[in-house]
Amino acid sequence: MRTDTPQTVRLEDYRPSDHLIDRVELDVRLDPHDTRVTARLAIRPNPAGRPGAPLVLDGDDLRLLALDLDGQSLAPAAFRVAPSALTLPEPPQRPFTLTIETRLDPTANTKLMGLYRSNGVYCTQCEADGFRRITYFLDRPDVMSIYTTRIEAEEAAAPVLLGNGNPVEAGRIEGTGRHFAVWHDPHPKPAYLFALVGGRLDRVSSTFTTMDGRAVELAVYVEPGKGDRAAYALDAVERSMAWDERTFGRAYDLDVFNVVAVSDFNMGAMENKGLNIFNDKYVLASPDTATDADYAAIEAIIAHEYFHNWSGNRVTCRDWFQLCLKEGLTVFRDQEFSSDMRSRDVHRIGEVRTLRARQFPEDAGPLAHPVRPKRYAEINNFYTATVYEKGAEIVRMLRTLIGERAFRAGMDRYFAENDGTAATVEDFLRAFEAETGRDLSRFAEWYERPGTPRVAISGHYDAGAQTYSLALRQTRPGAGSDAPPVVIPIRLGLIGQDGPLDDARSPRVTDGVFVLDRWDDVLTIENVATAPVPSLFRGFSAPVRVDMAMDDTERLTLLRHDTDGFNRWEAAQRVAARLMIGALRGEATAAGSDAFAAALGSFLDARALADPAFAALVLSLPSESDLADDIGSEIDPDAIHAARYDLRARLGTALTDRLHALRDALAEPAGTPFSPDAASAGRRALRNAALDLIAAADPTGGAACADAQIHSAGNMTDRLAGLSTLALLPGETREAAFAAFAERYVDEPLVLDKWFAIQAMIPEDGTVERVRRLQEHPAFAMTNPNRVRALVGSFALANPTQFNRRDGAGFTLVADTVLALDRANPQIAARLMTAFGSWRRLEPVRRGMAESALRRILATPGLSRDVTDIAGRSLGESVTA
Ligand code: PHE
Ligand code: ZN
Repeated sequence: MRTDTPQTVRLEDYRPSDHLIDRVELDVRLDPHDTRVTARLAIRPNPAGRPGAPLVLDGDDLRLLALDLDGQSLAPAAFRVAPSALTLPEPPQRPFTLTIETRLDPTANTKLMGLYRSNGVYCTQCEADGFRRITYFLDRPDVMSIYTTRIEAEEAAAPVLLGNGNPVEAGRIEGTGRHFAVWHDPHPKPAYLFALVGGRLDRVSSTFTTMDGRAVELAVYVEPGKGDRAAYALDAVERSMAWDERTFGRAYDLDVFNVVAVSDFNMGAMENKGLNIFNDKYVLASPDTATDADYAAIEAIIAHEYFHNWSGNRVTCRDWFQLCLKEGLTVFRDQEFSSDMRSRDVHRIGEVRTLRARQFPEDAGPLAHPVRPKRYAEINNFYTATVYEKGAEIVRMLRTLIGERAFRAGMDRYFAENDGTAATVEDFLRAFEAETGRDLSRFAEWYERPGTPRVAISGHYDAGAQTYSLALRQTRPGAGSDAPPVVIPIRLGLIGQDGPLDDARSPRVTDGVFVLDRWDDVLTIENVATAPVPSLFRGFSAPVRVDMAMDDTERLTLLRHDTDGFNRWEAAQRVAARLMIGALRGEATAAGSDAFAAALGSFLDARALADPAFAALVLSLPSESDLADDIGSEIDPDAIHAARYDLRARLGTALTDRLHALRDALAEPAGTPFSPDAASAGRRALRNAALDLIAAADPTGGAACADAQIHSAGNMTDRLAGLSTLALLPGETREAAFAAFAERYVDEPLVLDKWFAIQAMIPEDGTVERVRRLQEHPAFAMTNPNRVRALVGSFALANPTQFNRRDGAGFTLVADTVLALDRANPQIAARLMTAFGSWRRLEPVRRGMAESALRRILATPGLSRDVTDIAGRSLGESVTA
């Protein structure tokens, strides 16, 4: 029925390339519509390949202009060419040089893969398979080459010309108005790390001296006039470099490191060797345009891309099934960096919130896949929370299991033994096995099957024996009936009525960690003087769901006394979730929420001013999607929303005086210069969390307070927090505030994105119509991924009541957008589609509506492989998961 039946690629079918490409010399003559690329490829048969095999170079939408082999043009019978491949059925059985000329139209490239133009700037995006849109190539990560790139362009249009590696030569071509630059990258790399940039850009720079004493010229390039917004990113580059030397002993390896910000980009950023290209959202920051969250994201993503230089570039992936090898590891590294730069507990809570919001639902739905998938139809659909975030959790568990010292030594070994190669997950684990002498084959199971494990636990205190025992049982929903148990590190401690029970002991607990590696186990802890409350999975030591019956009083004991910050926060979250889920099942009691409010009150009195960032997280209730994930089936998003709103209102009422007092105590004296540091951000976060509860309890007073904050705010964080609060309170004040905000920021695309997003997230009837209206707004553009994500992405992924509207209007809106976008930019269309990933968990009416929207999409002729794959898997009609 479907015309575009995706071809499935399987891990088990991997074999080495029949040919290798040692050197690549590219000559790129940039032109808006008629760019010419000449590629000279030094090719040889791969000794590990099949002798005499044909040479099949990948292409995508390419037009061949000329082709020769060792300087001789090829007879038509000696090759076959199509936009998607260039084949030499009988290539020479010795090293040879193939010279290929192709012609590109970068202006017409709306997929933003390969060479394209963003606001007039020429740039490239090659991961995962975009290089084949530039020239015919063996576009697979285990083919690694040394690149020399000559870039030529009209000097007035593109005064800046950047490539991978180090600059070697530049000059004018007299009498033509054109100029050129030559770049050479001495490090062998796969084609996905290739990049070039040509354009009119401002430059902000500094010098970094590496631990081995080499000077590196650092530069961040941004749109003309925005140089003053690049300082924070540049500073983050310097801190990342110093941190990777200090923490992992990794130094940078070229003379220059360049970051370029572009406004049209499919993802967050890209780690091209020596030339990182960024979505400008993750570079540009000023107090008036960026929030604290934006600053934190810039710091994290700058670090992430920089850290790829070792985890991804120096050691790359053998094939795309190994994507987590670079992504999970690099996310782990950037998380550690941010934790060192900020507050570790606060950062860890943020990591877990992201994991639960994005990865848990993915793992429980039709798009679930192993951290290392076994097959795919479209690799671009596997840049997922599972590969990234769960991949990072696996690395974190490995460190917990073997200890910090062995972990660092294993990392050193991994880098040393695999430097300059394309590696696998097995190579990674082997380094730690060699270092520790342990067998990690059972641990490796974490990579193999989808699904979030569950651990059911019950505790029993024996006062006579002074022992406390924990009966543990793991199950693996979604992993298949043949799945073995996984190795689960459980960091734990016991808490008494007055604090930690430090004398408790068990020979099976090492450095605070017990390892559950069977289906069932019983852990007995001795020397337990009083009935304890267990603090389990401290720091969220494993990405699992935990079922343990514990009453609110016990949880609130943890909130008060646990030494583990994560579990203090988790305790409050669990109580709040139980209250809200109880309410929507009609089991709520006012006494429950009163007791919770009282506990929060004492918590705020004791700790709010000492750690405002942490207190802000404690005050932020589990999100609607967290609750949906807890409930698991027959979901009614309106009921969840109502229950959450109600608890916010109750807490706001009970805590009103304290919340106002906190807001006053935390107010910044007028004229305080803005600082994005974690402590200042934490104070703003708590003030704004207080505002949220105040407004829930008293909409009229809250609206006035939010509106006043919008007007008095000296930075974007507070202004946007005011607007977000007001967005939940229908009325003229809100609409006037939206209008004024748009007027103030008409010329600030990244700020307008926030304006689009806030409106798309309004949990009210009428938002579907509002979003449709905003799609007609002069500032809306389907060609800009940030804009589409801001408006339609926020609606689909962050507005549960309206996306899941009972009459199906929300699904229709997103389906219409997906279909309108698919031809121009299938990757972004496919991303939007992932919002349907939880459709089976809805109650029957909404489920039916979602299913017909999915079927309508899938039945549309000419659909991209990207959208076909997601729609097919969402409906359970494909084998590619
Ligand atoms: N490799 C990039 C990162 O994780 C993500 C990316 C993938 C960017 C594909 C563009 C295209 O940092
Ligand atoms: Zn990455």
